[in-house]
Amino acid sequence: MSKRIPWESDILEVLITEEQIRAKTAEMAHQISQDYQGKEVILVGVMVGAVVFLADLLRAMEIPVIVDFVAISSYGKDTRSSGVVRILKDLDLNIESKHVIIVEDIVDTGLTLKYLVDNLSARSPATLRVCALLDKPSRRKIPVTIHYLGFTVPDKFVVGYGLDFDQRYRNLPFVGVLRPEIYAG
Ligand code: PRP
Repeated sequence: MSKRIPWESDILEVLITEEQIRAKTAEMAHQISQDYQGKEVILVGVMVGAVVFLADLLRAMEIPVIVDFVAISSYGKDTRSSGVVRILKDLDLNIESKHVIIVEDIVDTGLTLKYLVDNLSARSPATLRVCALLDKPSRRKIPVTIHYLGFTVPDKFVVGYGLDFDQRYRNLPFVGVLRPEIYAG
């Protein structure tokens, strides 16, 4: 019996399959584990989108891992280009002298990540790197460094595996392109 996936019919095409995500996540976790051999890492998930990727990434890690979360908000999507963002939920942990990796589902304009990197850097972590499942470089407004990257995606409306449209589709196990009629109303 085939698995019924909610909202699958709203998807125009599957860009990255469940299997591709699983293989790439294992590869990334292995690379991070090699790079931080003998160290403990704090993975900082950026809510909400990164939770799915983070959950799989951390279970594939081969070194001790601690998890914390931040929630960031721009002042509405329309003002995102201004780069004005604020922290809705801060870290619970003190990251001073710790090895920190920010985990994102997607880097788009780069504004969220730039803000977070600047903000967390000011707390004097021992090291600070970025791990993102997806990169959409065509939308970049500000340069950011992604140390561990899964896939580069084209400038299409992608949802699934944590990524949403209007809070929906996060539970799809793949990354797909949303049918334009869905978001065009
Ligand atoms: C998404 C994504 C990143 C950010 C990237 O979050 O998870 O945090 O946008 O965009 P940027 O590079 O243009 O700043 P979103 O604000 O959609 O919230 P969500 O994670 O709750 O879906």
